[in-house]
Amino acid sequence: MILSIPEAVMALRQGRTVIVPTETVYGLAARVESAGAVQQIFQIKKRPPGNPLILHFADTETMKKYTAEPDLIDRVARFWPGPLTLLVPHGDRIPRAVTAGSPLVACRIPDHPLLLQILKSLGEPLAAPSANLSGRVSPTCAGDIDPLLLELTAGVVDGGPCRIGIESTIISFTEQRFHVVRPGMISEEQLRATGLPVGDPLEEIAPGQSRRHYAPPLPLILLKERGDGTNRVELADCCYLDSGRGRFAGLPFGARISLSMSGRVEEVAHNLFSAFHKPGNARFLVMEPLPAEGSAIAINDRISRAATLLGHISGEGSALLTRTL
Ligand code: TXA
Ligand code: MG
Repeated sequence: MILSIPEAVMALRQGRTVIVPTETVYGLAARVESAGAVQQIFQIKKRPPGNPLILHFADTETMKKYTAEPDLIDRVARFWPGPLTLLVPHGDRIPRAVTAGSPLVACRIPDHPLLLQILKSLGEPLAAPSANLSGRVSPTCAGDIDPLLLELTAGVVDGGPCRIGIESTIISFTEQRFHVVRPGMISEEQLRATGLPVGDPLEEIAPGQSRRHYAPPLPLILLKERGDGTNRVELADCCYLDSGRGRFAGLPFGARISLSMSGRVEEVAHNLFSAFHKPGNARFLVMEPLPAEGSAIAINDRISRAATLLGHISGEGSALLTRTL
């Protein structure tokens, strides 16, 4: 069901869950202070109870009421509203189910006018993980939301396609430095450019960042220059996701989807997850990693987690040889 803003606000006030648009991906939202609704998020997504939820705020003043280190918030506030999530020590107002026992809580101010309107009307934060079943791809338009999720929630606020298309950059602060916990469109370089001290990425902090994540509806083959696979896959059975930068774009794949004609990382991110949903008759999706710099690192992160097969082009160029990841 499509909900208007007042309908969404009413449903949330009544302790129901609502799917909301953000600039990154759609979120499955519940009021932080409604224990029942928070519980529903875990049930609906089939999310393990040990995986904490991310909170969305209308402004930093409200964020500071729920967290314990206001200075940390001020240091990164210039990126908000925007696709940056800060892990910060929480105060005692946040129910344990939300943080899953972690001393930290994930916070951001989303850059989407409809969600900001909802947050302002409510006057309190919304817990909202991505609106997909646990382990699947995040939806970036209302049409890509799993019908099961639509059925189990009050409905969706349709904000059109998400501008960014991949989830926010998550950062934590330890030993006087910020560390990227999940790469996103805000790159380490951008953080550094504002004078923030940035240390090495810390990959194992977020419980939701397992290697197998973002499973697309079809197997995704990560295409490398060389490899040791021996299982043969015909190019005609493959849908090639063309970033505009790949070396194998000229091969006779059965189908192709252009993510960006010019290889712009922003465009690739914007189109990536929705391309996972439209492979036509293909049996496999195929994509090459991008040159690993700046925000392209976030694209490579998502496709390497989504891929179940590693492939290379056979000597004759007629097929792909793969092995299971
Ligand atoms: O762009 C986004 O961040 C989207 C939109 C809807 O805001 N949300 C999103 O939520 O991607 P989710 O739950 O799919 O991913 C949040 C990640 C998970 O991997 C979770 O484990 C991690 O953040 N996380 C949340 N709280 C944490 C905490 N206290 N400590 C470590 N990791 C945490
Ligand atoms: Mg997610």
